[in-house]
Amino acid sequence: MISKCLYPVAGYGTRFLPATKSIPKEMLPVVDKPLIHYAVEEAMSAGMINNAFVTGRGKYSISDHFDISYEMENEISGTGKEEKLKEIRELLANCTFTYTRQKQMKGLGHAVLTGENMIGDQAFGVILADDLCITEPDEDSVMKQMVGLYKQFRCSIIAIEEVPRENISSYGVIDGEMISDNIFRVKDMVEKPPADKAPSNLAVIGRYILTPDIFDLLRDTQPGTGGEIQLTDAIKAQAKNGCVMAYKFKGRRFDCGSVEGFVEATNYCYENIYKKK
Ligand code: UTP
Repeated sequence: MISKCLYPVAGYGTRFLPATKSIPKEMLPVVDKPLIHYAVEEAMSAGMINNAFVTGRGKYSISDHFDISYEMENEISGTGKEEKLKEIRELLANCTFTYTRQKQMKGLGHAVLTGENMIGDQAFGVILADDLCITEPDEDSVMKQMVGLYKQFRCSIIAIEEVPRENISSYGVIDGEMISDNIFRVKDMVEKPPADKAPSNLAVIGRYILTPDIFDLLRDTQPGTGGEIQLTDAIKAQAKNGCVMAYKFKGRRFDCGSVEGFVEATNYCYENIYKKK
């Protein structure tokens, strides 16, 4: 029902310098797969087979990753090593990949608006690949859980997580009315509030389903915190006009935009996924 997923991948990834000087942050591997590969797999599991990337300068390796590598594939053809390409071949066989460039880094909201032409007039997923979400093998992926909720409410859905108060100033935070254990109707949102001004401890993480009216709202959004066009501000306007639901998802999220989170994700995936293959 929702067939498109947007990946804003234009950021500089300065927290990983010098590693990210010429390699996009999204191409850093957690064990044996780049972050962006996990993201596309998650979208596919939710039925989003059309992948739209908002890229920046020097991000060619992302489009190379989602393509055939003739020479190398020919070289390992018929050997045991070919097995290692099984997962990526499945993605390539089932998905489409489209790219556009965000010429200037004017913030996440601006990156999403830059992707409008690739999305059109339909609801779509957004994944920030540096938030790696892992669920148990018998559980739906986070994006699939969110699609279930979209079917119920037919409005924008944002994923949230409880975070300790001392970390809340790094996130967008919701003020919401609890509908059930895991679902909140968003009343207000604030980007990176000081801990004592945060309306709750419910932080927005890098998974969204957005209805297409978000594009007009983004066009009307003035630069906010940090001089950037904030996606949070446009979602906040959407919540005031109509309906935005926040969902406390089942699963684990690793903040792979930080070195600590990245190391934690690597250890977790090695023990719980890689060693069990
Ligand atoms: P971050 O705030 O994590 O920034 O962006 P960053 O540049 O990736 O990383 P650091 O902080 O310098 O280490 C959140 C997400 O929004 C995208 C980034 O690619 C990342 O997925 N983004 C941000 C854009 O695509 N364009 C922007 O103008 C800003």
